[in-house]
Amino acid sequence: MARHAHVAGRAAYDALVAGASADYTGYWARIARKFVEWKTPFTQVLDESDAPFFRWFADGTLNVSHNCLDRQVAAGRGDKVAIVFEADDGQVSRVTYSELLARTCRAANALKAQGVKKGDRVVIYMPMSIEGVVAMQACARIGAVHAVVFGGFSAQALRDRIIDTEAVLVVTADQQLRGGRALPLKAMVDEALALGGCQAVRTVLVYRRTGGEIDWVDGRDAWLHEATEREPDTCEPEWVDAEHPLFLLYTSGSTGKPKGVQHSSGGYLVQAAVTTQWTFDLHDDDVFWCTADIGWVTGHTYIAYGPLAVGATQVVFEGIPTYPDAARFWRMIEAHRVSVFYTAPTAIRSLIKAAEGRGDLHPARFDLHSLRVLGSVGEPINPAAWEWYHAHVGGGRCPIVDTWWQTETGAQMLTPLPGATTLVPGSCTLPFPGIDAAIVDEAGHELPNGQSGLLVIRKPWPSMIRTIWKDKARYASSYFPPELGGAYLAGDGAMRDVDTGYFTIGGRIDDVLNVSGHRMGTMEIESALVACTELVAEAAVVGRPDDTTGEAICAFVVLKQERPTGEAAARLAAELRQWIGREIGPIAKPKEIRFADNLPKTRSGKILRRLLRSVAKGEAITQDVSTLENPAILDQLAEAH
Ligand code: WTA
Repeated sequence: MARHAHVAGRAAYDALVAGASADYTGYWARIARKFVEWKTPFTQVLDESDAPFFRWFADGTLNVSHNCLDRQVAAGRGDKVAIVFEADDGQVSRVTYSELLARTCRAANALKAQGVKKGDRVVIYMPMSIEGVVAMQACARIGAVHAVVFGGFSAQALRDRIIDTEAVLVVTADQQLRGGRALPLKAMVDEALALGGCQAVRTVLVYRRTGGEIDWVDGRDAWLHEATEREPDTCEPEWVDAEHPLFLLYTSGSTGKPKGVQHSSGGYLVQAAVTTQWTFDLHDDDVFWCTADIGWVTGHTYIAYGPLAVGATQVVFEGIPTYPDAARFWRMIEAHRVSVFYTAPTAIRSLIKAAEGRGDLHPARFDLHSLRVLGSVGEPINPAAWEWYHAHVGGGRCPIVDTWWQTETGAQMLTPLPGATTLVPGSCTLPFPGIDAAIVDEAGHELPNGQSGLLVIRKPWPSMIRTIWKDKARYASSYFPPELGGAYLAGDGAMRDVDTGYFTIGGRIDDVLNVSGHRMGTMEIESALVACTELVAEAAVVGRPDDTTGEAICAFVVLKQERPTGEAAARLAAELRQWIGREIGPIAKPKEIRFADNLPKTRSGKILRRLLRSVAKGEAITQDVSTLENPAILDQLAEAH
């Protein structure tokens, strides 16, 4: 493997790291020229004059979709399969790079015909589909800024994002198919728009996925196939500045509403491309499969952009790993001869469980010899799951790249490189060449290896977040707190190994939960609960470790009525879970809701979350509770279980 690898061995990795440290901007400039075709070459690499608002390759111009599509066709990949799409029901369709380009151009022309202009925001609320990728690429082609909203978010959450982005157009589908069930999408868009405040939306483009019944608003709604079929299949790309925003993607923070993370065109594409190629050691004959949804950042960088930017063939999957049974992934790897497979620990853990009970679901039953490299993303992978993945999916021969990164980083930041990095289960090992990561204390001093602290990135990097949409102040204060002297605060706790310097991620240091690899703010769920004004007086939400989902959401709720017990408690908990499903989406539904007469508070009224975390875990309270106003409440909370 090392012989053929793009980064062939540890010495090659060390040389790249040394090159980046000797001449940081020179290193990134070389990568940017190699991986991206520029319309106007940049002369300036990094502009730090307005830190922490960094600009990369700022005087260069490019088009992202031209790089992902036209460039591949020009390089002779026109007939190469770009996407192998497998539907929920197992039907397979394929598009070549030429076809994907033609479809993207048609869609881009259709957007233009609807009056969408460069810089306008387009909300995409789509199932996993070729059309979803095309919608993103079409926006990129005309310089429109997409904001993809995960199809599992509720109408309310969708509306918040439509309002915040002031989107002029929404692309959606009639329904989505997941696990054999048809779930509404268009109806959610209707509901979101009916809630009001979305007056900028002029058009709703609807992809006919299932042909299921939907309502129709004349003058506003249009079928995607009708809007695209009358358009020509060429479209001159809109050449944009490198810093032109490519997309906004909402993610949870520790406070307030989800924030619209703004990404650039040039720097983002550079790092999406180089990480796709090096981290997965991707070659022209590989079949890549990232199981993420395009609604999350992983589906942006490692489905919609990175693999196309390097001309790869990839699998796009509509369904879920457990339908029709928990061998779906293994069957698909076998059928499509997948060579590079990238998924989340939570999926691996649930498939391990499924295989324990049923030998026929075990990966050993399938021919997975095509696999060469495995990847993991989204949350820490526990060593037991790592070992199983390595032995049973990878047949003991495939390196696992445990990739640490975030919506904000845009691309992988800490990761092994296949054939170059000696692996340690549970560790994301070392920074990608050109990334300056460190562990520091709260005053910003670097900590020695072996001590845990805050993970920071000391130098700006090309695919970094540019700002929070419409909230520059929040961007600066959440990611660049003054005590860290200009370093980017990731929000994760981490430690480096004493001997190897390898990084191990501990988890979030803030009030952000990671449930099945989905990021959720505790405050967001609390706000949703207290928005149920008829019932809820007060609520506090914490995470607790969970064997399958990594973390589980546990809510402590004080009702306006008397504290319910038994059946009444179960009924009210179910009602509140439904409520949260409507306010945010099913992914935010607490696994557990406990009712109490009060919450543990200090005399100044501050809720002591660390105590709630202990209660949620079922731990005995060993902390000092003398500052509590109402210590007796802890027993009631523990009993409420
Ligand atoms: C966590 C997902 C440990 C981390 C790409 C981070 C990880 C948050 C890993 C970002 C990993 C992601 N090991 N933890 N390999 N990858 N995380 O924005 O807490 O959805 O801050 O981006 O996921 O989640 P996000």
